[in-house]
Amino acid sequence: MYQYNDNDQILVDERVAQFRRQTEQFLKSEMSEDQYRALRLRNGLYIQTHAPMLRIAGPYGLFNSKQLRKIAHVARTYDKNYCHFTTRQNIQFNWPKLEEVPDILAELASVQMHAIQTSGNCMRNTTSDHLAGVCIDEIEDPRPYCEIIRQWTTLHPEFDYLPRKFKIAVSGALHDRAATQFHDIGLHLVKNDAGEIGFKVMVGGGLGRTPVIGQIIKPYLEKKNLLSYLEAILRIYNLFGRRDNKYKARIKILVKESGLEKFSTLVEKEWLLIRDNNELDNERINGMKAQFVAPAYDTDAVRDTSFSQQQDENKAFATWVKYNTADHKISGYRAAFLSLKAPDSPPGDMTDVQLDAVADLADKYSFGEIRSTHRQNLILADVKQADLFVLWQQLELLKLATPNIGTVTDMICCPGLDFCSLANAGSIGVAKEINEALDDMDYIHDIGDLKINMSGCMNGCAHQSVGHIGILGVDKKGTEWYQLTLGGSSENNAAIGERLGPAVAKDQVTKAITTILEVYIEHRLEDESFLDMVNRVGITPFKEQVYAIN
Ligand code: HEM
Ligand code: SF4
Repeated sequence: MYQYNDNDQILVDERVAQFRRQTEQFLKSEMSEDQYRALRLRNGLYIQTHAPMLRIAGPYGLFNSKQLRKIAHVARTYDKNYCHFTTRQNIQFNWPKLEEVPDILAELASVQMHAIQTSGNCMRNTTSDHLAGVCIDEIEDPRPYCEIIRQWTTLHPEFDYLPRKFKIAVSGALHDRAATQFHDIGLHLVKNDAGEIGFKVMVGGGLGRTPVIGQIIKPYLEKKNLLSYLEAILRIYNLFGRRDNKYKARIKILVKESGLEKFSTLVEKEWLLIRDNNELDNERINGMKAQFVAPAYDTDAVRDTSFSQQQDENKAFATWVKYNTADHKISGYRAAFLSLKAPDSPPGDMTDVQLDAVADLADKYSFGEIRSTHRQNLILADVKQADLFVLWQQLELLKLATPNIGTVTDMICCPGLDFCSLANAGSIGVAKEINEALDDMDYIHDIGDLKINMSGCMNGCAHQSVGHIGILGVDKKGTEWYQLTLGGSSENNAAIGERLGPAVAKDQVTKAITTILEVYIEHRLEDESFLDMVNRVGITPFKEQVYAIN
């Protein structure tokens, strides 16, 4: 994991002191609401329905145990004993007191955490594959490049005030686990015909009210040109992005309106002027790679036989291994998912007690490191297979072992009306009701890979438009309705879900979802996934059944 140096520390400390002064001025009415807004947003602070919401950056989802303990401490001391993990590998607090936010930021700075550029019209946290560096389908570890991009984006003076927010995601594996096709810029490490590794660059993807799949602007970019090419794209966006209309301000609209060809010509022209600047030489890349060296794996781990024996003897453990662990490039190790989707807790939430306990587990079983995932779960990436049984037992006690990763109850869900001032409808309550209706684990496992994503409004924080089943809260004359979509995906086969029909009333959502599942079970071919079936038969059979009742 990247170790921050003294310069990084000075930067975050100074930022805290500055924000403390600004907040004091605002509280003493020496600054207006409007003046303060721009400053607080620069420090991750939104004003929400009940209280401020503070978003903390999680650089490409990596945390160490010390940082997790600090988050637990903040949750306990300044919030209501919990925090929320988002789809962009960040952490949110929903109940901080405005006057205490500078103290929270000071606490976080002591473990090199901050909230800089987690909101506002700037380059946001770069996200990545949660299995980076350990998965078996990797071309190259994307994390050193994520960190290089992080350093380049942090407080970049030219791109501090873009037309809208800007998000970059990087994947180094064959399987896209970072939704790269739905980011402003998506980067994929790829091999060219000569066997050299570079980047495929996609541009103009995004979610929200106008979901768009990113287009390939450069099939192969040499690594040395990474930053100059990103800079060229950002410059064109900064110059030509629509500043007159908030809803048309994202790069996806610029690319769509100008057409990829014209956009690309502009970028190439700009790039010619700057392509030799800021070159990433091997020394810089190798220096960064040295920050992500693999931990000291136990070469004897593979000799263990207890793991397969324990699975034979304990069905519940075997099920957890099947759903909540992933293959690891080192034999004898696995990556273990911690499900933040227990049936009775809001998706992505974690208590201070859980956070502290997970920090201890990370120290004991995974080299002190924790990762957060795009689907709002956590991972201990480097667990010896011999340790999995005892880890599972401890996670069970913490309610973090629900064996549902990748299944229908591993739902992405935004806070909706419960916390968000922009919401049209509730989402946490609906998620709970769906989970309650689907409490039979055998049934859930029989359904298999099925991703439900639910947002409380068009902004689409929970990626409903790319859920295999998407649920979108809409407001109809003051009552909550839900628009359903089918067939979306944010993985390699990226697709935007198709609308099933008219929105359904709140008390009909769970029934509609269970009906969709029944139709799937009735029509699927052997081993056919939900998404494959929807792609084969289309939405008509689902539509007929869901609306048959009304
Ligand atoms: C409660 C406070 C929140 C507020 C005020 C908020 C606000 C917004 C807004 C206004 C957008 C639309 C941006 C656009 O279309 O350009 C958005 C999108 C988004 N938000 Fe949130 N959000 C909140 C919570 C969350 C949570 C809890 C998550 C994670 C589950 C999240 C993750 C995202 C993501 C991934 C997008 C999609 C952006 C894209 O187009 O790529 N947000 N949010
Ligand atoms: S999707 Fe809408 S309701 Fe949900 S968090 Fe985002 S802005 Fe709020």
